[in-house]
Amino acid sequence: MLPTFLPFLASPETGGPLTLTVRRREGEEIIEGSLCDDAGQSYPIEQGIPRLLPREMRDAQISEIAARDAQVVEYDKMAFLNWFGKVEIPLTRRALGALPTDKLLEAGCGTGRMSRILAGGVQEMAAIDFSFESLRVVQKKLRNAGITNVHLAQADLCCLPFASSAFDRVVSCQVLEHVPGPEARAAAVASLARVLKPSGTLALSAYKHSLMTRAFGEKEGMHDGGIPFFRFTKSELRETLGAGFKVHSVTGALVYLYLAQCTRS
Ligand SMILES: C[S@@+](CC[C@H](N)C(=O)[O-])C[C@H]1O[C@@H](n2cnc3c(N)ncnc32)[C@H](O)[C@@H]1O
Repeated sequence: MLPTFLPFLASPETGGPLTLTVRRREGEEIIEGSLCDDAGQSYPIEQGIPRLLPREMRDAQISEIAARDAQVVEYDKMAFLNWFGKVEIPLTRRALGALPTDKLLEAGCGTGRMSRILAGGVQEMAAIDFSFESLRVVQKKLRNAGITNVHLAQADLCCLPFASSAFDRVVSCQVLEHVPGPEARAAAVASLARVLKPSGTLALSAYKHSLMTRAFGEKEGMHDGGIPFFRFTKSELRETLGAGFKVHSVTGALVYLYLAQCTRS
């Protein structure tokens, strides 16, 4: 973690400021330390990554974190996703419309399939995921590529540890469908809206409940290892996002996903 990340950060529990204690540095980077909030709750910084999960999480999310941590190598190598990205990433970037001066949040970065490309188009970026092992893979990719404008944090989409209006743009790909239940999805949307500047842009993709899944699939269920999923109809995605955003478009161009372009209302 670089000290320049601190102004973005806030307590995931209280929303208040965090006080940094450094235990070990390598050059500019803080490798071990802690962040303490205004209620006295301490969050560790381990292996250069601040761990800012809220103390209480839903059982389905705890099971997903374990599954994502365990499946990190397989996910990173998924040939289909890497191939599909050749269409998905340009369309997502177009919906996001990021400028070189922007501060961008990637919410649910996984193993960084998109992170390096997104980072190239903005001034500064934060990438969060609740899987620490996924973040370690992203960290390695960023270091190998010499990319220094990306801050990583372990965080929950429903309880983002950032100051309000911290980002010009937010992107979140294939994450909201894994947030279990309407209440948690509403919390995720409220959290995404809070950290985005007024009139800032959100580009978000999520599983589509298509003709194919209506005929042969399930609307919601569990992937292997205990990863919850929910497939949205177009109107459900519009309605879910509409609670925090003005939804400009929801397209079905991404085969099994809807891609929504929104601004903070
Ligand atoms: C299908 S992967 C997508 C990763 C990446 N956006 C991509 O397109 O390759 C979903 C990711 O969302 C993360 N995730 C799911 N729910 C989350 C939550 N509530 N908070 C933070 N991350 C979450 C998972 O750990 C996983 O890495």
